[in-house]
Amino acid sequence: MKILITGANGMLAKEVKEKFSDGNELILTDVAELDITNKEGVIEFIKEKTPELIINCAAFTAVDKAEECFELADKINGDGPTNLAIAAKEIGATLVHVSTDYVFGGDLALDKYYKEDDAKNPVTAYGITKLHGEEGIQKNLDKYYIFRTAWLYGVGGNNFVKTMTKLCSTRDEINVVADQHGSPTFTRDLTEIIYQAVTKKIPYGVYNSTNEGFTTWYDFTLEILKQQGITCKVNPVTTEEYIEMMKITQAKRPYNSQMSKEKLKQAGINVPEWKDALSRYLVEQKEYEENAK
Ligand SMILES: NC(=O)c1ccc[n+]([C@@H]2O[C@H](COP(=O)([O-])OP(=O)(O)OC[C@H]3O[C@@H](n4cnc5c(N)ncnc54)[C@H](O)[C@@H]3O)[C@@H](O)[C@H]2O)c1
Repeated sequence: MKILITGANGMLAKEVKEKFSDGNELILTDVAELDITNKEGVIEFIKEKTPELIINCAAFTAVDKAEECFELADKINGDGPTNLAIAAKEIGATLVHVSTDYVFGGDLALDKYYKEDDAKNPVTAYGITKLHGEEGIQKNLDKYYIFRTAWLYGVGGNNFVKTMTKLCSTRDEINVVADQHGSPTFTRDLTEIIYQAVTKKIPYGVYNSTNEGFTTWYDFTLEILKQQGITCKVNPVTTEEYIEMMKITQAKRPYNSQMSKEKLKQAGINVPEWKDALSRYLVEQKEYEENAK
């Protein structure tokens, strides 16, 4: 199958390229080769290359920066996927797109989980732009998959696991936010979900797609340390306390962005637990670092 992967230099794209490389013809583009905000360029490129499947890994992912750069973020996260959907429609291709838990308001009670069709109420500029992208696709195309993910980390890149590991190896004590609830997600597992969905041809639509189980950044940090045998005092703090301590300004973060994966499971897709994903990641990250020496 001929597959176009946009945003091909990004963190998730690294896994997607590897997973889909076997037996497929990949067309890999990042902003230098195909700027997804350029509607005419996107349509022309896709009509010329005629991929059967387009996997959009391109995005503006800097959540805090999106507050000041709304226009640019909206072009990339809103117009970009819309352009891809319009072009996909013209040639009969299927579009895979990746969205976020931030399309939800995050104010649910903690014993509740967002379902795909629950009301959207993004509280960040980033969330608003990602919702525009979802809407643009749904308005223009039937053959699409939107996988909503969260708290992504992958081998080789900079991510929360790596940061916490480094910090705790050099400090005796750190403060970590304990009042945001969600699901850490290994890019390998999200890629496998995408791969299974496409190959099994599950019904088109929107799927919440994180690792299974829920935690906080604080408990995630404890698990990261536990699995590596690192000792460090971790203090749970509220988001407000953290902002004050670090003297930073940041976009509002959702309190509860826990998403139900029932729809994905009903479609026959396996969703691994976040602790299991973390342990697989740590083994691979270690190998990666040793090979890079
Ligand atoms: N990282 C997370 O924690 C997280 C959480 C939830 C959802 N997501 C979503 O997952 C997807 C993948 O995220 P990631 O962390 O791998 O992203 P990333 O930031 O690592 O990669 C994004 C890529 O998009 C490219 N890009 C930016 N603007 C472009 C343009 N105009 N045209 C073409 N390419 C462009 C960048 O150069 C980069 O290579 C995104 O849709 C993101 O919104 C990420």
